[in-house]
Amino acid sequence: MGSALGMRCAGLFAFAALAIVGFACADTSEPSQGEFTTWLKYMSDTSDNDAVDDVAPVAEADTVTGTWTGGDLYNLDKDHGDEAKKPKVNRDSIGVLPKPTGKPKKVVVSQDGKGDFKTINEALDSIPLKSTHRTIIHIRAGVYKEKIVINETKHYITFLGDGMNKTVITWNDTAGDFDDQDVLLKTYRSATVGISSEWFIAKGVTFVNTAPSPPAGAILRQAVALRVTGDRAAFYNCSFYGYQDTLYDHRGRHYFENCYIQGSIDFIFGNGRSLYRSCKLHVVADTFGSLTAQKRNETKMHTGFSFVDCHVDGTGIIYLGRAWGNFSRTVYSYTYFSDIIYGPGWSDFGFPQRQQQVLFGQYHCYGPGASSPERVPWAKYLSPEEVKPFLSVGFINGKKWLPHYIKKPKFT
Ligand SMILES: *[C@@H]1O[C@H](CO)[C@@H](O)[C@H](O)[C@H]1NC(C)=O
Ligand SMILES: *[C@@H]1O[C@H](CO)[C@@H](O)[C@H](O)[C@H]1NC(C)=O
Ligand SMILES: *[C@@H]1O[C@H](CO)[C@@H](O)[C@H](O)[C@H]1NC(C)=O
Ligand SMILES: *[C@@H]1O[C@H](CO)[C@@H](O)[C@H](O)[C@H]1NC(C)=O
Ligand SMILES: *[C@@H]1O[C@H](CO)[C@@H](O)[C@H](O)[C@H]1NC(C)=O
Ligand SMILES: *[C@@H]1O[C@H](CO)[C@@H](O)[C@H](O)[C@H]1NC(C)=O
Repeated sequence: MGSALGMRCAGLFAFAALAIVGFACADTSEPSQGEFTTWLKYMSDTSDNDAVDDVAPVAEADTVTGTWTGGDLYNLDKDHGDEAKKPKVNRDSIGVLPKPTGKPKKVVVSQDGKGDFKTINEALDSIPLKSTHRTIIHIRAGVYKEKIVINETKHYITFLGDGMNKTVITWNDTAGDFDDQDVLLKTYRSATVGISSEWFIAKGVTFVNTAPSPPAGAILRQAVALRVTGDRAAFYNCSFYGYQDTLYDHRGRHYFENCYIQGSIDFIFGNGRSLYRSCKLHVVADTFGSLTAQKRNETKMHTGFSFVDCHVDGTGIIYLGRAWGNFSRTVYSYTYFSDIIYGPGWSDFGFPQRQQQVLFGQYHCYGPGASSPERVPWAKYLSPEEVKPFLSVGFINGKKWLPHYIKKPKFT
């Protein structure tokens, strides 16, 4: 605990230098009220509410099938068969696009000229705007310095990399940079890779925004590595590197498996409905930070972030989540937390009324940061019954679209 204490104090001093007087490091984890207020303001100021951050409400959450017995992760994948007995409802008011037809086409991107293209953008340009079959873009190992936006009508794209850290896509825009029309990019358009289309898959790709870590108090320094706005996107064995706002889980149903996500503040954020399974969240904060900022803003939205069997570590004093929306939902289950988690755990984003409206919960988490007597009283410790919807791929209607379910995933 000694070294953790040292780290905390260092963090708080660095923060204190920014703003406040009279801070003492005697009793550790609690920042003074003044510091806290300044920090909250900083966090609010730096989380711009892009007008584009819209989301289509989803009619019905999928029925929960099966039970989670802990330990057996593969329960998550099992087809429990009881879904058929439930009445059918249209659960997909977003994403009515059918699954791809026919055989996937494949193109190869290789920097040595031995593929079909040398850049990812050239490969994407070769794909018609409206295609009904899947196109697998095999991106051979290499560092691709490209900014990529996949058009909202270019569906069924797969980025098949040669593995984490081998196939790397990198750029360095921040929210404060301008496009060639002199228009401010803002958070949304700072992304190295932005996915606006549906049915996207990535496997074995690293997404990076190399913009440097913003100093506390800096504004317009959000730098997104990946934005995913399209419905039904799945990521396997991918990694995401950034600091503030690394992964913009903007909207739609998304699945992340065995991924590595690095960031400092609100680094998984947006109004997606996403299941993060067996992912590693690595925090690189100097002072305070937050793992998530989920933005559900209406009770009828079935959005939220669910983390199952994840691992959280790194540096800083970190919230599990901040209530960016009036009805934010974030749940961690069977997840390890190192001692970087700030005792109170959750932030209402400076809006006390959200305390009673959000669903911020934990279930069977472990490690030194998993519990604290200082947890805010509105933090939920879910019952097995309550946590069920968050543990199944039903949370994202996965059986209707995840590659495992609609067909054996064929990545090569
Ligand atoms: C919630 O957010 C969506 C998307 O930004 C917006 O269209 C809707 O009006 C918001 N709802 C409320 C109650 O503000
Ligand atoms: C998608 O492509 C169409 C046709 O080229 C274009 O009009 C539209 O602006 C593109 N969308 C984005 C987000 O770039
Ligand atoms: C990727 O690189 C990072 C940073 O160097 C390292 O921590 C991580 O272990 C690497 N991951 C893999 C799968 O090689
Ligand atoms: C981004 O990269 C370009 C070219 O490498 C460099 O000139 C620029 O300073 C970088 N911007 C930031 C914010 O790091
Ligand atoms: C991801 O990597 C692991 C090894 O780290 C491997 O067992 C697994 O099959 C990979 N997943 C996919 C979808 O290729
Ligand atoms: C959030 O709730 C507050 C108070 O209930 C309300 O004034 C505000 O309009 C709500 N915001 C959204 C985006 O719905």
